[in-house]
Amino acid sequence: MEKLTVPTTPIEGQKPGTSGLRKKTRVFMQRHYLENFVQAIWTAIGGVQGKTLILGGDGRYFNDRAAQVILRMAAAGGAARVIVGQGAILSTPAASNLIRQRQTDGGIILSASHNPGGIDADFGIKFNMPNGGPAPEDVTNRIFEATRTITAYDIVESRDVDLSRTGETRLGDMIVEVVDPVADYAALMERLFDFDAIARLIAGGFTLRFDAMHAVTGPYAKAILEDRLGAAPGSVMNAVPQPDFGGGHPDPNPIWAKPLVDLVMGPDAPDFAAASDGDGDRNMILGRGVYVTPSDSLAVLAANAHLAPGYADGLKGVARSMPTSRAVDRVAAARGLACYETPTGWKFFGNLLDAGRATLCGEESAGTGSDHVREKDGLWAVLLWLNILAASGRSVAETMQAHWREFGRNYYSRHDYEALDKTVADALMGDLRGCLAVLPGQSFAGRRVTEADEFAYDDPVDGSHSAGQGLRIGFEGGARAVFRLSGTGTEGATLRVYLEDFVDDPTRLDLAPETALSDIVAAADAIAGIGAKTGRLAPDVIT
Ligand code: G6P
Ligand code: ZN
Repeated sequence: MEKLTVPTTPIEGQKPGTSGLRKKTRVFMQRHYLENFVQAIWTAIGGVQGKTLILGGDGRYFNDRAAQVILRMAAAGGAARVIVGQGAILSTPAASNLIRQRQTDGGIILSASHNPGGIDADFGIKFNMPNGGPAPEDVTNRIFEATRTITAYDIVESRDVDLSRTGETRLGDMIVEVVDPVADYAALMERLFDFDAIARLIAGGFTLRFDAMHAVTGPYAKAILEDRLGAAPGSVMNAVPQPDFGGGHPDPNPIWAKPLVDLVMGPDAPDFAAASDGDGDRNMILGRGVYVTPSDSLAVLAANAHLAPGYADGLKGVARSMPTSRAVDRVAAARGLACYETPTGWKFFGNLLDAGRATLCGEESAGTGSDHVREKDGLWAVLLWLNILAASGRSVAETMQAHWREFGRNYYSRHDYEALDKTVADALMGDLRGCLAVLPGQSFAGRRVTEADEFAYDDPVDGSHSAGQGLRIGFEGGARAVFRLSGTGTEGATLRVYLEDFVDDPTRLDLAPETALSDIVAAADAIAGIGAKTGRLAPDVIT
């Protein structure tokens, strides 16, 4: 087998973002584009000589081609073994699990998460570390540096490796081990949760729907929910992964998964419904007539996780991203648990999980997970919910009511202003930053500001400092408005305004969130001048 050293030159813009390198698929398909980036990963991790790596992706367009290129480049770099999901498929949490279980040197995940797929949509690639978590900034900086100085990459010439069947083959001296993408992940879930109790619940007539959104969780959800737990055939909807996700946005929120929300709000509602995203790390939880916000879901899971065997000994602590509502803080306070507030981005949970300071983590952006892997995990959240419902005998609606009666309710909503002119958005944030100091004591829309600051995070494990992580304004009575610019938007700037108000009056636990939050919405606009500065009369997206 011939090894080629192909001369190349640096390609602009190969800087990994929040979650690896994400670009238009056609950009990735350009000559040398993928190869340059993969060679840069090898350089950044000190080469792959003798190493074992995991490889898989969410099945979007170009996943299969990219996997073949990466295998040839791993062989050229002298890797000992690459463990690949059959068909080059692995969900992000399943890849994280395999990296850990097989004690590998890391892995490559091919995904652009919840972004659409297809030749005219998005593609992505990221490297995860031996702990199963996304590469930290020093590694992604080294990758970027390497993309700027690259002069050649190594690749072997060979036919495509057959990834359609499980088993071992060779590519030169390297072993390619094709594994069932579901098996190890399903076994992990079976260790964490009481499958018998969930199966009994379902056998007793409890109905559920899981929308895989034509993305990677289809085979996982079918194997676990239908085959092992006995949910009726067809309970998993849109279960066959497609390279373009059926033309949709595989993002599990009330906007992109509207048909599922309509179903639970209608006459044929199942007892429980959920959805996950392109690569299987996000989740949305629904019950008959109920949408559970991600922030509330985290709080409910924290309060009840001990009902599942994997968490029966209790939690070491909990963590949430700063803009996530403080519902989980109330659970932590009541149960004497440590509670960490981190900047937006799953990578900030990694140290807390590795150090055993937190067991559960969550974000308002539909991410929930635990120390079982080092990524957020959509199906894990679904199974923990089902385990809790099976153990408590309550419906989703009853669970929420009981939770709010015990802990109070943090009404919550996020308003997004998308594709703003970047200068306008920066100026709005700058003006707001400039007046934070004088806000406390002033009242807006009848609500008095008690505190205002710019969030910065000092990692308690490695001491690193992250500044400029969003502007927080606290109001009397436990209400809050948070302002930040999205770190994942692709067009102009996206302003996110996170609105929250705390209520423990038992007669006010059932308000519509927009009603409960109306004065905080008005106060946020009065303080930041969103309408006046952006010319936008209303947010583009409300979740
Ligand atoms: C990705 C990250 C999350 C983050 C989300 C929103 O999904 O994995 O950790 O919360 O993006 O980020 P943004 O900067 O757009 O609010
Ligand atoms: Zn994702």
